[in-house]
Amino acid sequence: MKLGVFDSGIGGLTVVKSLLEHQLFEEIIYYGDTARVPYGTKDKNTIIRYGIEAVEFFKNFELDLIIVACNTVSAYALDEMREASTCPIVGVVEAGVLACANFLHDKSSNILVLGTKATITSKSYTIGLKDKGFNYVEAKATGLFVPLVEEEIFKGPILDEVFQHYFKGINKTPDAVILGCTHFPLIEQALQAYFGSATKLIHSGDAIVEDLENKFNFSTQYKNPKLKFFASENPDALKFIARKWLSL
Ligand code: DGL
Repeated sequence: MKLGVFDSGIGGLTVVKSLLEHQLFEEIIYYGDTARVPYGTKDKNTIIRYGIEAVEFFKNFELDLIIVACNTVSAYALDEMREASTCPIVGVVEAGVLACANFLHDKSSNILVLGTKATITSKSYTIGLKDKGFNYVEAKATGLFVPLVEEEIFKGPILDEVFQHYFKGINKTPDAVILGCTHFPLIEQALQAYFGSATKLIHSGDAIVEDLENKFNFSTQYKNPKLKFFASENPDALKFIARKWLSL
């Protein structure tokens, strides 16, 4: 299968990492809209327009599937992107909700959703989780994590301060925390240490792999998939980060 992965920037590489670990695809074409990131502060119509433009970009490649790795785009633009696309499109929000519901059997579990301002404002995770019967869902926009991760600040006092800023007043022991933004898996260890080992962190990359394995029959494993990286600005910077984060 030939796959396209779309993100607003570099963060979607965390989803590629999970895909590579599971060796599901023969070829992966990654497109990061690095010229226009962040999407998480933009409004719905802009996010939809950017999403449709990404679909047009992918039309050059005869793909079998597109994964929208960006939570913000998954929250707002999936329907419009699917209408514009000639191949199927899956998003990380639906996958994250399913992964959370598969993990938590007690419907009175406490769930904390973290994401960009746009993702949280869309209420897409909260609505999806309520549809699955979960009524104790708290959602918090934690946009400052995005630039911190871009600065490769994955632990330490600055991050601890930001945790205090966002999480004081929040139920300290949620049963699950949804990392509803491509960047957040990079601070997974710090978040796990903050909330404690009893809290399950739901990662978009792992969630999408679980979802795909349930939807499709993957009979072959590809140990050395072809990888191509495209960016709307400074593709070399994206390739540099990809080599580093994905250990290529
Ligand atoms: N990729 C975005 C997301 O997962 C985070 C970065 C941005 O704001 O564009 O929501």
